[in-house]
Amino acid sequence: MSSNPENELAAVISSAQELLRWEETLGGQGFPAPKPPSPHETPLAGPGARGSDQDIQPRLQVLADEAAECTRCELSRGRTKSVFARGTPDTDLVFVGEGPGFHEDQQGLPFVGRAGQLLDRMVAAMGYDRDGVYICNVVKCRPPDNRTPLPVEAAACAHFLIPQLDLVRPKTIVALGRCAAENLNVVPPAGRWRGIWGEWRGIPVMPTYHPAFLLRSPQFKKPVWEDLQEVLKVLNRAAPKR
Ligand code: URA
Repeated sequence: MSSNPENELAAVISSAQELLRWEETLGGQGFPAPKPPSPHETPLAGPGARGSDQDIQPRLQVLADEAAECTRCELSRGRTKSVFARGTPDTDLVFVGEGPGFHEDQQGLPFVGRAGQLLDRMVAAMGYDRDGVYICNVVKCRPPDNRTPLPVEAAACAHFLIPQLDLVRPKTIVALGRCAAENLNVVPPAGRWRGIWGEWRGIPVMPTYHPAFLLRSPQFKKPVWEDLQEVLKVLNRAAPKR
């Protein structure tokens, strides 16, 4: 036996490894496989600095599957389908709405009703394909009678929204309506909130009016278009000529 403690330690490790390999050959567990990282543990990176698509797609799917089974708040009792997202995570632009309505709850996709059709036109006016952006909501289950989610419901669903946005890490987020703006913490304590840049975990956020509000009050389409042009400037893109 060597009297050098380093050699002794190396010999012990080597025989332990041999034993584990042997157990593995016999059908034992051998070395435990490294656990894949939980999608809830996403390190903070700069805007637009997401991981590779191959890496984030499966992690977003884990979150979506978890949301489909979630019972963290009362909204889960009334859902037909949970509504996680639509579009591509491989994008520089994310829209966050409030919560699913009737059609979204039926189809399991966000913004597929009348407000969604208007959002699609806004996206096209910005020069993006309908599926070239990523769209999600503060809450993943439909609130009864399409009411605004309660703070306790939004807080329960932050369990999904925070890692979801952290995985996509776009260059810019557009918060659609006051509920989304509040939940991304970009509403100033007093005064105007629409059209004022804020920041969510290092990502610039532009809060603007919700498309459902624009359907009722089309006179506010102009300021929303101005907000979206600010977003295009930050993204170094020009709106296509119309
Ligand atoms: N309104 C929202 O905020 N989200 C949807 O998905 C649909 C309507």
